[in-house]
Parts: sequence; structure tokens; C-alpha cells
Amino acid sequence: MQKQKLLIVDDDEDLRTQMKWALTADYNVYLAEDRQSAIAIINKEQPAVVTLDLGLPPNPAGVEEGFAILDHILDNYSHTKVIIITGRGEKEHALRAVEKGAYDFFYKPIQLDELKVVLRRAFHVSQLEQEQREMRHRLSGDTFEGMIGTSPPMQDVFSTIRKVATTDAPVLITGESGTGKELVARAIHRLSIRESKPFIPINCSAIPENLIESELFGHEKGTFTGAHAQRKGRFEMAEGGTLFLDEVGDLPLTLQVKLLRFLQEKTIERVGGREQIEVDTRVLAATNRDLEEAMKNSTFREDLYYRLNVVKISLPALRERNADVVLLAKTFLDRYTGEIRKKIKGFSSQAIESIERYPWPGNVRELENRIKRAVIMSEGKKITLEDLEMKSIAGSKECIVLKDAREILEKELILKAMARNENNLTKAASDLGVSRPTLYDLMEKLGIPK
Ligand SMILES: Nc1ncnc2c1ncn2[C@@H]1O[C@H](COP(=O)(O)OP(=O)(O)OP(=O)(O)O)[C@@H](O)[C@H]1O
Ligand SMILES: [Mg+2]
Repeated sequence: MQKQKLLIVDDDEDLRTQMKWALTADYNVYLAEDRQSAIAIINKEQPAVVTLDLGLPPNPAGVEEGFAILDHILDNYSHTKVIIITGRGEKEHALRAVEKGAYDFFYKPIQLDELKVVLRRAFHVSQLEQEQREMRHRLSGDTFEGMIGTSPPMQDVFSTIRKVATTDAPVLITGESGTGKELVARAIHRLSIRESKPFIPINCSAIPENLIESELFGHEKGTFTGAHAQRKGRFEMAEGGTLFLDEVGDLPLTLQVKLLRFLQEKTIERVGGREQIEVDTRVLAATNRDLEEAMKNSTFREDLYYRLNVVKISLPALRERNADVVLLAKTFLDRYTGEIRKKIKGFSSQAIESIERYPWPGNVRELENRIKRAVIMSEGKKITLEDLEMKSIAGSKECIVLKDAREILEKELILKAMARNENNLTKAASDLGVSRPTLYDLMEKLGIPK
């Protein structure tokens, strides 16, 4: 494999030589002693990583030369990782550089074995980012409504979408809030022969119970006060196309019967009408409720469940597909920096680490909202933990790992216990060996919906 390119910018000739000698086995090393020679090499070679001494001639005691090089890199080669090399007395300059977008900093006198570790990590991150850019590029031509996902569970979802799109079978799409259920429904419609006909979504939980029947099935003139004219419902509006019944678990039982009749006979009856109207509409349904549990409680009809559930697509929670998190984060960052027209070059390394570790209870929607907000609030070149409002999540530097690790583990165990016990708090608590109030408090603390 070809060695990756490293540029060392330092005015101390001995140090340059020593570093080159130590690093030349691992990297293709270039040397520069001032701003002019550094910029020439950066433009020509575009090294993946640069170590940058801030104090350079003609004013080796100042930092302007170093910052000028940093700005040049950030403006033109934002993928390049810059490691600031600085004296212990100049910490605030180093921090300012990182704030601007440098990848990391390192103190003089240089401990070569430590520097090697930092460099290895910088090259590794650079490589990963490169792969992700290529991946995104390859995926951007896709037809899944811009859905991102390289993780195995998402690849399964895509392959099912492809298969069911060509049929007229109902599909039940399940998954936690914000996992992309509506996107899947739109993708199925888009890939089907119904594509040129309407896609009509309706959220069964958002419409008051007394209005939903007429919303769905329409009504005849004079059926109730306010029914001045005959009106078509969503089933008829979706003629030839697709009706998306979101939160189908909240559909009142009386309407479940009517929906079942439609699925069996392909006909509907308007409210106050006597005529059976034939409609050619495909039904896709979604829910974040556990319908099997609802069947046991008799709030969801079993016969309807089996009709809707001919094909099931279960969307994995974001915390179950680590491979996608950073990819999604970068995609949203690109999208919103483009829309909001800000020159943001990426995430700080702390921000990326926290994005990877956080369990994302609100799934993709939460990730997207946090990033959009961060892009609006950000004042630097990189999105920081503060921009993401994730500072409290990360905690202080020393306890990041343990504290987060514990929360993630606790969260996962609680979610599993709740699922196993069909959301019965008492049983889940006994499974986990804690009291019911303790479990309740923990769920509150970890933001798990009850
Ligand atoms: N795989 C993905 N790639 C890109 N964006 C996604 C992906 N999944 C979800 N999103 C985005 O996340 C947001 C939430 O998606 P969507 O509305 O489809 O979720 P949902 O499961 O229907 O959520 P809810 O249960 O809260 O209605 C949308 O803005 C959507 O564009
Ligand atoms: Mg939805």
C-alpha cells in the first residue's frame, strides 16, 4: 500500500530532521521551514496530516505565521488533519487553533513515541472520513428517498423495500419514533408502479376520533352538521396510489373493522352513504406501538393485524447500527451547512466521539435536529459538543468513558427488560433486580419513555 503523506512544518532544523528520521518508515514525509514552503507543499501534495509549529520566521516568537498556514488549510483542504506543536506556555494559542478547526495539539519537547500514537490516530480518522465520503458519493444516486445506511440491518431493510415495492401487498412498518418509518413508506411508493399517482399519508393518532372516519372514508352531503357537500376521504384521494396509515395502532376499533373490510374487498363506504365504492389503493401502515401487546389487550384486532402484516419491515433503533451514526451525522452536516450557507468544516473530535457513544433515544430525527440546531448556533469552523448541546452527556474528560458506558449499558438492559416483559414496569424491575421506584427513576434519568 502506498504510504500516506505527512507534512512537518517547523523552523528548528534539528527537530525536523529527527522527526523525519523517526517517521519515514511509516509515512511519506515532507518538510517545510516557513509559511511559503509549507503552503507550496500543501498545494502540491495535499498531505493527509500536517504537524504545525505556530512560531515561524520572520517572527518565530509570534504565532501569526502558523495561524496563516492553518487558515489556508482550513479554507482549502478541510479534510487535512492539523496537529499543532506548541510550547507548554502557549496553551491558549493551541486551544484557539483547535477551536478554529485544528485536529489536535501536542507539546514540545516532542516525545516521539507519543507523537506516533497521535499521528496514527489522525491518519486513521482521515482514512475513515475518506471512505465515508466515497460511500456517500456512491449512495447519493439511490432511490430510497435519500435514506442513508450501510449497516447490515439497514441493508436488509433496503433489500425488502426493493422486493415489496413491485407488489401490491400491505406492509407493516415498525420501529421506534424517528427511525425512518415514513421514509420507508415513501420509498416503497416511489419504487412501485404507483409512483406517478398520489402518496397520501394520514396520522391516525393526530386526528380526533370523531373526525377520523370521515377523513379516511369521506362523507355524503348533509350527514352531519357542517357536511355541506359530499367529500372524498383519503382512501379515494389515494386512488391508484398509496395510502400511508401512520400510527395505525391508534386507529379506533370501529374503524379497524372498516379498514379490514377494505383490505378484504377493496371497497369502502362513505359516512352516511350506502354505496360500496371500489378503490384501487395500496395500504402501507406504520406503528411504534407493540401491536402484539395491543392484541392481547384487545385494543387491536387480530384479523386486521394478520392482514396488515403480510410483509413486515422492522427498522432498527439508531443505537443498534453504529456503522450508520457518523455517516448520518456527516450527511446532515453537509445538508444543513449547504442550506444555511455556513462554512463549517466538520465536527470536533470530541463531538464525533460523543455522537458515536450517545444512545440516541430519539433516533435519526434527534440526530438530525441536534445537528441542524448546531449548524445554526455554531460560530466556529467545527461543530463542538456545546453546539450539539451534548456537553453534559460527555461530562468531564476523565469520566467520559465510564459514565457514558454505564448509561448506555443501563439503557440497553432496561429497554430489553421492558420489551421482554411487554412494558410491565413491575416485572421488568424484578428481572433487573431493582425496585419498581428505582427503575422508574432510572428511566426518567435516562430519558426512556414509559
Ligand atoms: N436512514 C435515514 N437516512 C436519512 N434520513 C433519515 C433516515 N431515517 C430517518 N431519517 C430522517 O429522520 C427523520 C425522521 O424520519 P421519519 O419521519 O421517517 O421517522 P418515523 O419513524 O416516521 O418517526 P415517528 O415515529 O416519530 O413518526 C426525517 O427527517 C427523516 O428524513
Ligand atoms: Mg412518522
